[in-house]
Amino acid sequence: MVEEFAPAKINLTLSITGRRDDGYHLLDSLFLFANVGDRVTARPADGLSLEISGPRGVGLVADPAENLVLKAARLLQAEAGLTQGAALNLEKHLPLASGIGGGSADAAATLRALNRLWSLGLGLDDLARIGARVGADVPAAVHSIPLRVEGIGEKLTPIGPLPPFGILLVNPAVSVPTPAVFAAFNASGTSFAMAAEALPSDPRALLAVLHRTPNMLEAPAITLQPVIAELLQRLVALPGGLLTRMSGSGATCFTLYPSPEGAEQAAVNFAAEPGWWVWGGGLYNQSHSL
Ligand code: C5P
Repeated sequence: MVEEFAPAKINLTLSITGRRDDGYHLLDSLFLFANVGDRVTARPADGLSLEISGPRGVGLVADPAENLVLKAARLLQAEAGLTQGAALNLEKHLPLASGIGGGSADAAATLRALNRLWSLGLGLDDLARIGARVGADVPAAVHSIPLRVEGIGEKLTPIGPLPPFGILLVNPAVSVPTPAVFAAFNASGTSFAMAAEALPSDPRALLAVLHRTPNMLEAPAITLQPVIAELLQRLVALPGGLLTRMSGSGATCFTLYPSPEGAEQAAVNFAAEPGWWVWGGGLYNQSHSL
């Protein structure tokens, strides 16, 4: 059996720099990965199958046409010209449709797991290229390291090293479909952003750049789910935070802390409403073994 961790993604910044003819938006975004996530395991089997377990998997039934794990598995199987299958298990911990890339992380972890189970010997760049056909955030999730992400998600540049930040993540128990948030952005008539500034290595200068570069999907997401604005206000009011904003297309918001311990403590102290998901800890900083 092989096992792969599928860490949550955080968009430290998210600039929309244009729109392609097919409607996809061009982005310039800084991605980090947090040390919390789902888990994908794969065992040898004849056909492809998927079971879902874990605290967020209760009652979740995989729609074979829609499920990103199975989609990624079928693509890799076809690409490698294989007939052998795999029995996959997805242990779900991350909230669904919540701006922290759970589905993309699951697809990426599936590609890494099956590359090992089937001894394909592909590199992370190969897996990222295949993953791009599953979803825009999958190539970044294949690597799960701090990245500047451009295009619609296919152009990846490693960033860092970054300070050992801590992250507090809070999801206010509402799911926001990504296409609806991009549609609300289009309807707002907001102009596209310029390409992002270079990232300084000095932590104070880095934070100043981050503060100047917002997540442009935050305002449109708030029009769809006003509770996001309330959550952001609560996070900004916490002591010790370095930067607070929404991740991806929402509704999960985060506060960056100077250390993982600070973020852990903030999670313990956070006064969440019933049903909200709260996590505090460090960045995911293990490299994936192939
Ligand atoms: O590729 P993915 O399935 O993650 O994207 C979901 C939807 O989000 C797309 O169908 C599109 O409407 C929107 N999207 C976009 N520009 C991006 C990524 C996603 O408009 N760069």
